[in-house]
Parts: sequence; structure tokens; C-alpha cells
Amino acid sequence: MRPVFHLTPSRHWMNDPNGLVHHGGRWHAYFQHNPDGIDWGNMSWGHASSTDLEHWVEHPVALAHRPGEQIYSGSVVAEPDGTLTAFYTSAFDTGRQAQSRATSRDGGFTWARDARNPVLDRGSSDFRDPKVIRYTDDDGTQRWILLAVEAVERRVLFYASADLEHWDPVGSFGPVGGDGVVWECPDLVRLRVDGDDAHRRWVLLLSTNPIGEDAAPAGSAMHYVVGDFDGRSFTADQPVLVPADHGRDMYAGVTFDSAPDGAAIMLGWMSNWRYAHAVPSAPWRGAMSLPRTLSLRTVDGAARLVQRPASFVDEYLSGAASVDLLADRPRTLTLSGHTLVELSWDPTRTGALRIRLDGEADDAAEIVHDPDAGMLTVSRTGTAAAALHPDFASTSVAPLRADDAGRLLVSLDGPLLEVFAGHGESVVSNLVTLGAGPISLTVDAAARSPIGVRSVDVDVARRSTATAAA
Ligand code: FRU
Repeated sequence: MRPVFHLTPSRHWMNDPNGLVHHGGRWHAYFQHNPDGIDWGNMSWGHASSTDLEHWVEHPVALAHRPGEQIYSGSVVAEPDGTLTAFYTSAFDTGRQAQSRATSRDGGFTWARDARNPVLDRGSSDFRDPKVIRYTDDDGTQRWILLAVEAVERRVLFYASADLEHWDPVGSFGPVGGDGVVWECPDLVRLRVDGDDAHRRWVLLLSTNPIGEDAAPAGSAMHYVVGDFDGRSFTADQPVLVPADHGRDMYAGVTFDSAPDGAAIMLGWMSNWRYAHAVPSAPWRGAMSLPRTLSLRTVDGAARLVQRPASFVDEYLSGAASVDLLADRPRTLTLSGHTLVELSWDPTRTGALRIRLDGEADDAAEIVHDPDAGMLTVSRTGTAAAALHPDFASTSVAPLRADDAGRLLVSLDGPLLEVFAGHGESVVSNLVTLGAGPISLTVDAAARSPIGVRSVDVDVARRSTATAAA
């Protein structure tokens, strides 16, 4: 079942978001794409754009693979004169990976490749995923910083440039965290802490994919590290990779350049290299996550990443009436497969809360919110889940604090389940196999207390908006 409020390609394969940029009133999302098939290969940059981060229009392939060269992940920056510059990895058939450049003067629709490509080459076979950001020195000079990974070495390399053409190596970060993985798709964002403009910290976003014979079965995952960046190198507060998402299906998340008000808005690929090839959808395969605004919040003395879904989600929900479910016994609501549900309750009265989503056959997703145990768990089970891949059925665990308010936002859009706890301090993103039919949502709690539930069938809400507009 195709998602309706998430970005999917009309046909064929998609993985990482690339070149995210807000320009000329539109959000442009390029993406790793096989223009010729439903499996990974012939990697090129597909292209879609949106004015509201909800409705996407697909455009012709922006950067196509060529004989001997695939176009891997990268980024785009917009300059005041309207020029867009893309940096991407040229993955040559020889095995070499180096960074190349292209420019667009028509707002991101057509691209001219630089005759000097590749413009950044270390003779490496694992040097990829360039992300260009802006950095302002203490004296006010703006420089561009390009970060890219040496994937197998688990290092992020930093380069600086005044003109987006000449790049000087200035520093590196890593390795930290466990080995047995490659590092991919880095991004570096400066985020407000607790909404305070005067208090900002740098956050390195990083995705890791297990490699080798006994690669960890949980597969690929996204992380973050809070620290400082001085224009040359990143210094972590603590040398650990913290999960950015506790589910199985959030990868390669990066942020938009030039978002209004300096917001850090991230899109990620909702799949996992462990089984991405086996996800049963046609004629396309792959979807992006909900766009998420990033910020930091102090939790137990440390800055923790908070992800808040794009504002259209709140807009849908604010138009929905809240019903109270009395959780003295399990209560069931029938919902469509394209639904936003917000639940709020007092966990000190209810104790653990259990929410089950049952699909058309025996497949289900279960969310358990247990502040006493300090855990939010999200599991996916059933025949279709087991058939997809041996490592697909899973239970994901995210931390909760005992005094966290009872608030969950559950977004289900076909196969895409995203659960945001609290204000988005804990997020679990998972593919699910609930099928195309209606979903029954059952709410149950340890003790009797009202559970406020607001739900929106996004399909229906969209149709009524379209009718009102007509
Ligand atoms: C991450 C990744 C990147 C690479 C791209 C190739 O998912 O492996 O490192 O650029 O996908 O499609």
C-alpha cells in the first residue's frame, strides 16, 4: 500500500535523501534512485519537490548514472544569487569514490556537471556522502564546510572552502563507537538547547551499517553526537554514538539547506539495508520518513535530540475532536491505514499503556509505554513480517523517563509506522506489514483512567480539503 503523506518515487528503487534544499519557495528532495529498476543499482539522483513537505511532485531524474560512474549520496546548497551547487559522490566502476560537483541555474531542475570532476579525490574506495554546510567564524567570515566519510575507517573528514571550489582539509572526527560497521551520510547541524537562541550546540548526525560475515542482524541505524565544532574539527561531549531513532527503519537522515528561520528539518530513508531489497512493494520500493524538525532538550543534565514532525501533522490533528477512552478494559477503534493518532493521558494513574495495531491478517504492531520500566517498546509480528525476512520481526526499545508526560504521536501511512514519545525525545520508526485493510487500534492500560485520543484519517481529510478548495 503506497504511503500518501510521505515521499515515495512513482516507480523503481529509492534509498537515501540527497541534496535537500529549500529554494524559491519549494522544498527540493533528491534521492538515491535506480531509474531503471526496483532494486538498488544504476544509482542516480531522483528529484521531487513540495511547497508544504506533505504533497510531493516528482520531476525528471536530476543527475543520471553514466557508463563507469554511479551518482551516490550528497547535498545541495543555495546561494543568494540563485545558484544551487550539488556535491555528490562519483562511484566509479574501478571502485574509486570521490566527490563531484554540479550547478543548477534553473532552481534545481537541470544540472551542469563540473568539467573538473571529481573535485575532491583521495584515491579512496570508501570516501563518500559529502554534506556541505555554512560556518561563520568568530570574526564573522562565512566559510563552507564539507564533511564526508571514510566509511570503513569510521571517520568524518572536514574540508573548508571560501568559494565552493577550492577545498582544504581541516580536520577529522572518529572513529568512536563500535566497529563492524561503516559510517555513512554525515550531517552537522547547530541546534538550540531548550528553545534558547543564546544556547546552541553542534550535533553530528551519522548513519552506520554493519558489515562483514557476522554483521549485526538489527542492521543499519542512525545516530547523533552532541559536541563542539570550531570550523575545523568536531569534538564530542562523550565519545559514543547515541541512537537518533530507536526503530529499525530510519537511515541516512540529513537536513535541508536554507530552511526558513534556520530550522533543521531532516528526512530519512525508512528502510534498513538488512532487508531493504525484500520489501514487497510495486512498482516502487522505498519511502522517506516524515520531515522532522530537530532541536535539543536538556534531559538529566545532557542535551538530547528532539524530533518534531513537520507542522502539517499538527495542523491535521488540531482539527480533530478528542475522544476519551476509559481504559478500564481494552477499547478498540477502527482506523484507516493512513492515520495520525495522538494519545494523551496521565501515566501516574494508568501505569503502563498498551496500544495494539491489528492489520487484516495476523500481522500486528504493538506499542507499550511503560514509564516505570523507563521503556517504550514497539514490536512488529505476524506471518507477513516473518515472510519478509528472517530478521524483520522485531522489538525496538526506546528510553522513557518516569516523569515523562503521557503523550504519543503515532503516524501510520501504509507500511510506515513512526511513533514519537513526549515532545519527540524518543522516536521509533519501523516498516510494518499490516496490509491494505482497515486497522483496529486497541488501547489498554493497567489502571482505569481517561486516555484522550485524537485521530485523523489523512486520506479523508485531504479529500475534504480538496472539495472545499474546489
Ligand atoms: C547509504 C549509502 C551511501 C551511498 C549510497 C549509495 O545508504 O550506502 O553511503 O552514498 O547509499 O546508494
